[in-house]
Amino acid sequence: MSIDSKNIESSLQETRKFAPPADFAANANISSEAQYQAMWQKAKDDPAGFWGELASENLRWSKRWDSVMDQSMPETRWFNGGKINACDNCVDRHAESWRRNKAAIIWEGEPGDTRVLTYQDLHRETSKFANVLKRLGVRSGDRVTLYMPLIPELAIAMLACARLGATHSIIFGGFSSDAVADRNNDAQAKVVVTADAGWRRGKEVLLKQAVDESLAKSPTVEKVVVVRRAGIPVHMATDRDYWWHDLMSDVSSDCECEPVDAEHPLFILYTSGSTGKPKGVLHTTGGYLLGTMMSSRWVFDLKEEDTYWCTADIGWITGHSYVVYGPLANGSTVVMYEGAPNWPHEGRFWEIIEKYRVSIFYTAPTAIRAFIKWGDHWPAKYDLSSLRLLGSVGEPINPEAWMWYHKVIGAERCPIVDTWWQTETGAIMVSPLPGITATKPGSCTQPLPGVVPDIVDQQGNSLPANQGGLLVMRQSWPSMLRTLYGDHDRFKETYFSTIPGCYFAGDGARRDEDGYIWVMGRVDDVLNVAGHRLSTMEVESALVAHPQVAEAAVVGFPHDIKGEGICCFVTTKSGEGNESLERDLIQHVRKHIGALATPDKIKFAAALPKTRSGKIMRRLLRDIAAGRESAGDTTTLEDYSVLAKLRENDEG
Ligand code: PRX
Repeated sequence: MSIDSKNIESSLQETRKFAPPADFAANANISSEAQYQAMWQKAKDDPAGFWGELASENLRWSKRWDSVMDQSMPETRWFNGGKINACDNCVDRHAESWRRNKAAIIWEGEPGDTRVLTYQDLHRETSKFANVLKRLGVRSGDRVTLYMPLIPELAIAMLACARLGATHSIIFGGFSSDAVADRNNDAQAKVVVTADAGWRRGKEVLLKQAVDESLAKSPTVEKVVVVRRAGIPVHMATDRDYWWHDLMSDVSSDCECEPVDAEHPLFILYTSGSTGKPKGVLHTTGGYLLGTMMSSRWVFDLKEEDTYWCTADIGWITGHSYVVYGPLANGSTVVMYEGAPNWPHEGRFWEIIEKYRVSIFYTAPTAIRAFIKWGDHWPAKYDLSSLRLLGSVGEPINPEAWMWYHKVIGAERCPIVDTWWQTETGAIMVSPLPGITATKPGSCTQPLPGVVPDIVDQQGNSLPANQGGLLVMRQSWPSMLRTLYGDHDRFKETYFSTIPGCYFAGDGARRDEDGYIWVMGRVDDVLNVAGHRLSTMEVESALVAHPQVAEAAVVGFPHDIKGEGICCFVTTKSGEGNESLERDLIQHVRKHIGALATPDKIKFAAALPKTRSGKIMRRLLRDIAAGRESAGDTTTLEDYSVLAKLRENDEG
C-alpha cells in the first residue's frame, strides 16, 4: 500500500481537559486509575490469563476452550476448541433469568409506531425465525443476507442466524441493487431477508424492488423472506419469495441453540478498502462476543437499569457491536429508532431521549454537526436530564462539536466517550473510560485493556510524543477480524504487510505528552463520508463505467456536516461536460453504489494532473477541491497547464 501523508501533519492544539464528575466516578464500572492500569498491564503481559478469566465469568460456554489464544497475528485464534452460541448469550440466558420480562429492545418507527420486545419475546421470535430459516434450507455455515430497515426483525434475523450457526451478511439499506448483488455473490448467500420498504424522511426506501433487481445477478440466492413494513405492493415470485408473517404464523417456537466453535464465522460485513472491491470482513463468535460485551460494560459503564441508545444503523459495524451483540450480551435495554433525526422535525432524537428517559446516548460527529446547524432551541424543548453518558464514533470529532455536545446535550455533567475503532477491530479499541479518564475534546484518549497500540513511522519505529505517524496494534485482541471472506491473501496484505508484525488499517494519529491518542484520519484512499467509509476507487470505477467517461479521479474535501464530501474530477470521451451529464453521473454513481456515495461536486476537466509516470496527483486535486493553494512539491507534474486549467475552471 502506498501511503500518502495527507493527514499526518496535525496542527490541532487543544488544551482543555475535563475530569469525570465525582458522582459518576464513584459509581463507575472501572472506578480508579490503578484498576485500569492493573487491567491493562495484565492484558498485555498475560492476555490468555486476562481474557480467559473474563470469558469464564461473563459468557456461557457449551464446552470450555482448549487454549485461550493461539498464535500471533495475523493467524490469531481465540478460545480454540471452545463451543458457544452468540444467541444463547445475548438472549436465552437472560430469558431464563429474572430479566425475562425486562425490555431488550424498545423500538420506535419513523412514523411514530412503537414496539417493545422483552428478552422472553426476543427468545420466542428468534427461535421461531431460526425454525423458518431451517425450513428454507439454511444450515450452520450457510450465508444469509439481511437487507432491511432498522426494525426489530433485523435484530431477530441476526440472532436467529447466530442461533443456527448461519453467518449473516448485513447490507445497509442505503446501498443500491448492484451493491447487493456483488455482496450476495461474494458471500454466496443462500437466503435474503428484506422488507417491502423502509421509511426515511417520510419516503419509502424500496428494498424489495432493489432485491428483485439484484437477484437477476445473484444466482446463489434461493429464497427471499419479506417483512411487511411499509405496506406497499411488491412483486412476490412463486416458490422464491415468502412473507415473514406467513412463515412465522405456523412455526414452532422451540429451537435449541446450536453450539458452534468459538472460531465459527458469526458474520461478514462488507467495508470499503483502498481498492475498488469491498472487503468482506469476517468476525468469529467467541472472541467477538467477549470483546463487544466487555467494551460495552467498560466504555458505556452499562448498568442493569440503563436505557441505552446507539443511533447507528445495524447495517454498519457500530450497529452490529453496540446496538445488538454488546449490549444484549450484557442483558441491557436498547432503544432502536428506525428513521432520520430530522423527521418529522429536527428535535426527533431529543424527543426520543425524553420519551424513554435514555441514560446513555451514542452517536456520530456528522449527526452532532447537523444538530448544531439546526439550532440549540431543538434540544432545549426537551427534558434531557435522564442522560448520564454521551458517546461519539465514526470519525474524529471536532473540538467545537465536542464542546457543543458537552454543554448543550450533556449539560456539562455527562462524560463524553470518543470511541475509536473500525469494522475490522469489531469492538472499541481506544476510548476514555468515563469514570476515570480526564477527556480532551477531539482525543479518543487511551487504549482499553487488551489493546496495545503504537504510533510508528513507515519503518515501524515508535514515534515520540506529538509526532504524527501510523496507528498500529502490536498485539492481537479477541474481536479482531480473522480474514477477508474468500481472500485470505488480501487480508494479510491489507492489514499486516505495511508494518510487519503489526495490524495497520489505515489511520494516521499522534500521541500527546500525556500519552493521549489523537486520530487524524485516513492515510489511504479511503473517504470518511458522514462516518462511513467509501473508497475513492469504488466511486472512480462507477464513474468510468459510464459510457461517456474517459477517466475519473475522486477525492475528499472538507464538508461542514458530512466531514468529508465527494469531489469527482471527470474527463469525458468527447472532451466536454454539461449540467445534464453532471446530473446523469450523480445518478449513475447512486445506482452503482448507493445514495451514500452521491457525489457533492463533479468537475469536468480536459485532463487530470499526472506525474511523468502517469500517476494521478491526488494531492493537487484535493487542494483544488478544498479551494486551497497547493503547498507541496509539484516538480513531478508532467504538464503544468493542466493544473492551471483546473484552477481556472474552478474559479469560473
Ligand atoms: O478513520 C477511522 C474512523 O473510521 C474508520 C473506521 O470506519 P468503519 O470501519 O466504518 O467503522 C466506523 C465505526 C467504528 C477508522 O479507521 N473513526 C472511527 N471512529 C473514530 C474514527 N476516527 C477518529 N475518531 C474516532 N472516534
